[in-house]
Amino acid sequence: MEAMQSALRDVFRSERLVYRSIKTDNTAHNDFIFKNFFQNQVNFGLASLMMLKPACRKTYNESIENRLSDQLLAVLICLSPEKGAAASADQEFEDKISTTVKQEEDRTPMNKDAEEPEPIPIGMIHLSKLGYNMDSATSWRRTEIEIQISDEYQNKGYGRGAINLALDWAFAWAGMHGVSISTISFNERARALYESIGFKVEGRAREVCYLNRQWHNMINRGMLESEWEALRAKKADTRAGQQFSKNITAPK
Ligand SMILES: CC(C)(COP(=O)(O)OP(=O)(O)OC[C@H]1O[C@@H](n2cnc3c(N)ncnc32)[C@H](O)[C@@H]1OP(=O)(O)O)[C@@H](O)C(=O)NCCC(=O)NCCS
Repeated sequence: MEAMQSALRDVFRSERLVYRSIKTDNTAHNDFIFKNFFQNQVNFGLASLMMLKPACRKTYNESIENRLSDQLLAVLICLSPEKGAAASADQEFEDKISTTVKQEEDRTPMNKDAEEPEPIPIGMIHLSKLGYNMDSATSWRRTEIEIQISDEYQNKGYGRGAINLALDWAFAWAGMHGVSISTISFNERARALYESIGFKVEGRAREVCYLNRQWHNMINRGMLESEWEALRAKKADTRAGQQFSKNITAPK
């Protein structure tokens, strides 16, 4: 019983990160997503197959609700409130965090009645409904991850942490059998990260991405339930009380 309670408490958090639902009526959430992932053309171009255009807030406001409702899970990746400020012993990093917190406080009034401060958003992760239809006997129980980390938090291990949380949720709690993740062929950082997490190449969509007079392949990778179990060094066991994902070392 206690193990299950503890596991339930930790579904959407790790030592450094916490997932928070995206509230489309929350100005701070919309500002964060729009600025970092729609207005930021580099992040947008690396993560999307959509035609590049100057980002338009009106179009964003009109479409975000639909985009999110179409996902199995769509959350903000945030620094854990307890661990956020101490995420690194590096003083420079700590200074940066407190500046960011101050800026957030100035920009967005905190909910004074809330018991804990709103955690600082650093990214966004979606799990699609790809092949997910529990009404169908032939459901693939497959979902696809899309992830973006805001510029100043990239290359600090947060993408790895957020993807591992998503994998644990997908397999241990959402009953998925496979999780996909795709990237444009030249995205070396994403390739290195996804492979070191344990995703395997499953296919290529040839020349589907057109950027700056060049066609690029989309590389599709995936992880199966059995591979996740092996990575977490746990046997599949759905008996109540079993804790799947928290007493184990996440793969490097
Ligand atoms: C791709 C992304 C999600 C990764 O998240 P992140 O927090 O930056 O990644 P992490 O710090 O967890 O891990 C990055 C890994 O790639 C490695 N890496 C970084 N740049 C690299 C490069 N040019 N070539 C090879 N490896 C690289 C890092 O060393 C690190 O590996 P390590 O942990 O073994 O040292 C994030 O950078 C991002 O949102 N980028 C912009 C948009 C994008 O590319 N989205 C993905 C679309 S598929």
